[in-house]
Amino acid sequence: MSADGLTVCPSETGTTWVIQPQGPLQGTITIPGDKSISHRALMLGALASGKTTIQGLLLGEDPRSTAHCFRALGADISELNTEQVQVQGIGLGQLQEPTTVLDAGNSGTTLRLMLGILASHPDRLFTVTGDASLRSRPMGRIVKPLQQMGADIWGRQGDTLAPLAVRGRRLQPIHYPSPIASAQVKSCLMFAGLMTEGQTTITEPALSRDHSERMFAAFGADIAIDPETCSVTVTGPAQLQGQAIIVPGDISSAAFWLVAAAIVPGSDVWIENVGVNPTRTGVLEVLEQMGAKITLAHQRTVAGEPVADIHIQHSLLQGTIIEGPVIPRLVDEVPILAVAALCAQGQTIIRDAEELRVKESDRLTAMATQLQKMGAQLTELPDGLEIQGGASLQGAEVESFGDHRVGMSLAIAALNATGSTTIHRAEAASISYPNFVTTLQQLWPS
Ligand code: S3P
Repeated sequence: MSADGLTVCPSETGTTWVIQPQGPLQGTITIPGDKSISHRALMLGALASGKTTIQGLLLGEDPRSTAHCFRALGADISELNTEQVQVQGIGLGQLQEPTTVLDAGNSGTTLRLMLGILASHPDRLFTVTGDASLRSRPMGRIVKPLQQMGADIWGRQGDTLAPLAVRGRRLQPIHYPSPIASAQVKSCLMFAGLMTEGQTTITEPALSRDHSERMFAAFGADIAIDPETCSVTVTGPAQLQGQAIIVPGDISSAAFWLVAAAIVPGSDVWIENVGVNPTRTGVLEVLEQMGAKITLAHQRTVAGEPVADIHIQHSLLQGTIIEGPVIPRLVDEVPILAVAALCAQGQTIIRDAEELRVKESDRLTAMATQLQKMGAQLTELPDGLEIQGGASLQGAEVESFGDHRVGMSLAIAALNATGSTTIHRAEAASISYPNFVTTLQQLWPS
């Protein structure tokens, strides 16, 4: 596929994008459904009694992995070829023992949340795995607390790496003080708590995204939240009833256009129907702190989640410091914020973001090494990046490392570079944003 400014070249080893900047980005767009909410809607729909309808589901590779696994566990999930999806639930405790290995693909959320469900379903054997990236990501963070609940889980390197084998059991409730602010750890234990008699409590050092809390309550689970201590308690066993879910646009996908419009002179973009749950809006706060011109309009609540339309125009950005409790609220936006920082005046320092090293790739190393190829001055810190702003970026040949957010962040950096940029393994975008290229073409002047 080729268009002015962007050529997509498929090959046997993946897809390459060649990007030549085309001036300002202008227009009104919508973005794909929220990835975190899509996973949870499929899983809760599968575990509930009765029918769940999902409107606006993300049709990316990660939710497809979740649908694939839960079909193998007995749920009837309609084809993911339209954003309207129906799930005929099997009922909590009724999962079938699958006849094959459950493959979570590239999706950490699928594997980690599902493990809490599998471990608490007695008398069935499950084996779970994923792609090479997922098989290298830490699973001890969920296996350890599940084992404290009495779970029977086996894996490579002291039960810390997938593939994992799980023999489901009746678990004991625990109070788990999680050492990391991770919605995946929290949600894994919340899912385990659904089947477990008594109170399962998870306390986090800072608040991570709360989509599970909102959706558990909507499906009828007994759940209590203490915002003061960042704690959530699930009292099981639960009775879940199928729901009508509406998935808002993913702010993590909107972030690419927020930064693109902020850094490309003359840009003026409206992004409609964006989820603006306060546990996810760190990116808006940091961009505003840097001087971005952002307005939220038509703020509303849709199916329990805050939603708004967002207007963003180009402006001169200033460097900033990004650290502390805001990090979990923008954890997936660090790569694209690094691009914004390069185009700002002055220095930006990102700290407390060591979690970035265990995402789909080591995102600190990936962004530092690839942006350096484009002439950026930035240094890797053990837990972040130190970025010198005011860079004049030059087109270069760069690599996504198979990481969707790295590939798309580099594509946005390319919009502010001189000459053309070649991005290898750009097909990774389909994990969370299958129509990224179409939206970019839509925003360029025709
Ligand atoms: C997610 C939580 C985050 C995030 C991931 C999705 C979720 O991971 O990076 O893309 O849906 O719960 P951690 O909870 O491990 O930080």
